[in-house]
Amino acid sequence: MVAAVASPSPMSFDTERDAVGRALAALGAHADRCLEPRVGAAVRYALSGAGKRLRGVLVVAAYRAVGGRSDVSALGAAVEAVHAYSLVHDDLPCMDDDDVRRGRPTVHRVHGVRTAAAAGLAMVPLAARAAADAARSLGLDVGVQSEIVRVLMQASGAGGMIGGQLLDLQAEGLVLDAAGLERVHRLKTGALIGAAVRLGGLAANAPASTMAALAGYGDAVGLAFQIADDVLDITATTSQLGKTAGKDVAHGKNTYPSVFGLDGARARAIALADHACDALRAGGIQSAELEYLARYAVARPS
Ligand code: IPE
Ligand code: IPE
Ligand code: MG
Ligand code: MG
Ligand code: MG
Repeated sequence: MVAAVASPSPMSFDTERDAVGRALAALGAHADRCLEPRVGAAVRYALSGAGKRLRGVLVVAAYRAVGGRSDVSALGAAVEAVHAYSLVHDDLPCMDDDDVRRGRPTVHRVHGVRTAAAAGLAMVPLAARAAADAARSLGLDVGVQSEIVRVLMQASGAGGMIGGQLLDLQAEGLVLDAAGLERVHRLKTGALIGAAVRLGGLAANAPASTMAALAGYGDAVGLAFQIADDVLDITATTSQLGKTAGKDVAHGKNTYPSVFGLDGARARAIALADHACDALRAGGIQSAELEYLARYAVARPS
């Protein structure tokens, strides 16, 4: 999409992605020990897929941008666990019916539909507990600890990701207007990405004005990210994406390219990334890393 991705180098992204990946692996090992063996194995498979870990990295980057100095990769992993669960269910035959995810067979193709459904459900309390444990380990006030879990669960639920997923399915084959489409995208994808950024701020005990700037940034990046996903579904290949390309048209999905055309969708995503960076600066937050991640959300190759 945009040609250049601004500095800093993606090296810090790689380092943080690895840290979040290690925390996710620890969560997967814990699930394997605690859950019924088939469900545990499916959860571990879902958590170990080679995702970009953008949501987890956003937690870390937002935390650092507002002065946090500890290791919040475990909190990032909690958000990634919710995200991984959303993908398990998104791929089920009753939803988007996909066979490939993160470059390998989907969870239900390996473990069966019933086990995949159960694994997805098991990942929600796993994520809530991981967020609670991470918040406690950071030594935060009890009120902030509970706010962290509340923000994550609210963004994951019927008022956020799940609600958006239902609207997305109900709109298949229908034509949404621009406002309806934006609502679906903000809920199904924007809510969790926005929550990731807010969680970083909460973990650093950021004041209200800083939290408002982070929220403005996170909400814009969240919508931009799903617009880019819609564009990539058309412009990238299955092997580039690690998931089936071209499925939105095949399923009669409402997407930004279907409403605004490819160029219109790209322009909207870029404008949202600009808006996200403006919101940061207006709130006095200087963060080359968050600015890089906003550009990456729309310029990424997969
Ligand atoms: C895919 O998210 C699903 C959407 C919400 C668009 P990602 O593109 O972040 O998937 P991974 O985590 O990198 O696999
Ligand atoms: C998924 O949107 C949003 C989720 C909450 C998982 P998509 O259905 O477009 O995601 P992909 O393209 O399958 O990754
Ligand atoms: Mg979907
Ligand atoms: Mg899908
Ligand atoms: Mg998609």
